[in-house]
Amino acid sequence: MLHMILLECALELVPSEISALKQIQKHAARRGKKPIEILLDQSHHGREMTRLENGLQRGRPDIVFFSLMSLLETPLCKSGNLTIHLHLQDGRIIEVNPEVRLPRNYDRFVGLLEQLFTKGQVPVDGTPLLHFTRKSLPALISDLKKGGSEAQSMLAIENGQRTPIDSLRSILPLDVSVPLIFGVGAFPHGDFSEDLKKLFDTQIELDREVMMAWHVCAEILWMYSSRIGVIHSRYSSV
Ligand SMILES: C[S@@+](CC[C@H](N)C(=O)[O-])C[C@H]1O[C@@H](n2cnc3c(N)ncnc32)[C@H](O)[C@@H]1O
Repeated sequence: MLHMILLECALELVPSEISALKQIQKHAARRGKKPIEILLDQSHHGREMTRLENGLQRGRPDIVFFSLMSLLETPLCKSGNLTIHLHLQDGRIIEVNPEVRLPRNYDRFVGLLEQLFTKGQVPVDGTPLLHFTRKSLPALISDLKKGGSEAQSMLAIENGQRTPIDSLRSILPLDVSVPLIFGVGAFPHGDFSEDLKKLFDTQIELDREVMMAWHVCAEILWMYSSRIGVIHSRYSSV
């Protein structure tokens, strides 16, 4: 089972420090919302974000959008062997129901996420497709490892252990019952904290240059799918 965690996601509502600024007020008014009800987004609020601490690392919901697009509705996901969590920069965790069909349109995705942040889950009633959990990142990782004595956790990181794509395939567990937890950063700039790095057993580099988070997600997903033979087993089950 592959457990993907998108780490330090650049995903949050406009923080109160900049919500009164004119450009942000105008953007929110155009969208018919209050400033603190809209997602912080570099492409709309870039100038205002220079006033924020760690502004360069924040306000990129598109990274989460493209990463989710590369993971959801894939054969691995449909086979029931994938879970996805979003770890936010304030430490909160969002659980993504693998059965969710997200909007393909980015503006509609943003609207859905704004609803999630203001209501705590979407849809508001019934089985949640996206919801905030009460877990911390260390608790989540240790929960995901439960039930598999050989569970592995890996962090995709530049400057980790050099792991070209064929080597990656060979180090992944063959047995689908072994939990494999993979962390990928979903922020535009900067590095992981030392404390976060320590939560993972292994740190691996997949290319000598920086890759887009969604390419890293896709590489891991397809290598794991190939390793456990998910596509073959889906054909043989019909
Ligand atoms: C765009 S990077 C994040 C920030 C990066 N330090 C920068 O300055 O652009 C997104 C994430 O993809 C993963 N990643 C990017 N390049 C990688 C590589 N060459 N090997 C392994 N993981 C990589 C890491 O998890 C990283 O946090």
